[in-house]
Amino acid sequence: MDFLKKYSALLDDSLAKAVLKNEPSQLYDPINYILSLGGKRLRPVLTLMVCDFFEVDYEKAVPSALAIEMFHNFSLIHDDIMDNAPLRRGKRTVHEKWDVNTGILSGDAMLILAYQFFECYEPKMFQELAKLFSETALQVCEGQQHDMDFETRDDVLLSEYIKMIDHKTAVLVGAAMKMGAIVAEAAEDDKENIYQFGKNLGIAFQLQDDYLDVFGNPETFGKQVGGDIISNKKTFLYLTAARKGSSAQAEELEHLFDINPKDPTDKIARITEIFIQSGAAEATQAEIEKYNNLAYSLLDAINISEENKEQLRLFGDDLMLRKV
Ligand code: IPE
Ligand code: IPE
Ligand code: MG
Ligand code: MG
Ligand code: MG
Repeated sequence: MDFLKKYSALLDDSLAKAVLKNEPSQLYDPINYILSLGGKRLRPVLTLMVCDFFEVDYEKAVPSALAIEMFHNFSLIHDDIMDNAPLRRGKRTVHEKWDVNTGILSGDAMLILAYQFFECYEPKMFQELAKLFSETALQVCEGQQHDMDFETRDDVLLSEYIKMIDHKTAVLVGAAMKMGAIVAEAAEDDKENIYQFGKNLGIAFQLQDDYLDVFGNPETFGKQVGGDIISNKKTFLYLTAARKGSSAQAEELEHLFDINPKDPTDKIARITEIFIQSGAAEATQAEIEKYNNLAYSLLDAINISEENKEQLRLFGDDLMLRKV
């Protein structure tokens, strides 16, 4: 989508100038490292795009966009520690390249750097942005804790899973979009609807992240394929396979999620088969589409041009096709 380039060019430029300090290097090198690995920049692009779509100069939304991206990258460093992940964006994770303590402190510093970006806004806007940001960040922590708790639980409900991904992932996508609307001083209804749009898109996004964790191409995915299976994550794939599969499949699945073999190759291969044979893989695709459509249904009520609504739909469609 060509029109996105103007946002990502501005973001790359601004991010490159965002962290001015570099001493002590053990603190700042990992920050510059993770930021330099890029990523899709999905959330900050959405912040700029929404501000633009409400017809306000999107440069005004750059600090908010940077705050969101800084927070996101902080959460990835800590998430990779918690998930014991070796790879991020095709490169070694921070705690692998340095060590866990370094990942903890560099992550903490990034959270503080994220807040600092809001300092340039006037008091009223500052307060609204910071309030949304704090609420959202706390929900992300709650979602992350549920995600970890589910690893060792065998009675996780689908509704609990959806709430967990809503918190760990979707609220940040919603907040990224709402911040664009706050900076543009959009009407309250518009802010709320754009937030809900982003949240539904975010749920679809995490469902697909879980799907790609199993079915992504190891050459290009940038993360360890099968990582969620190794950690016994109770994803939509798992919960659906346990429910839709034959009793033999469900039993085998439960057994495989109870063991932690040293070499997980066979476990990953067998579970991947069960995810396909039970229909869980297909059901996940349908669920992704369901949440994308829920997001699109909110567009009617939002006061932006028809053309811009169409761009948001295309953006959502593009996300569904992503491979990384
Ligand atoms: C990864 O987010 C973490 C999730 C919430 C699934 P992204 O897939 O947006 O990661 P990058 O920033 O593009 O690497
Ligand atoms: C990430 O969920 C959520 C947050 C970082 C808050 P995942 O653990 O699925 O993300 P990836 O797959 O490691 O990117
Ligand atoms: Mg992870
Ligand atoms: Mg995780
Ligand atoms: Mg994942």
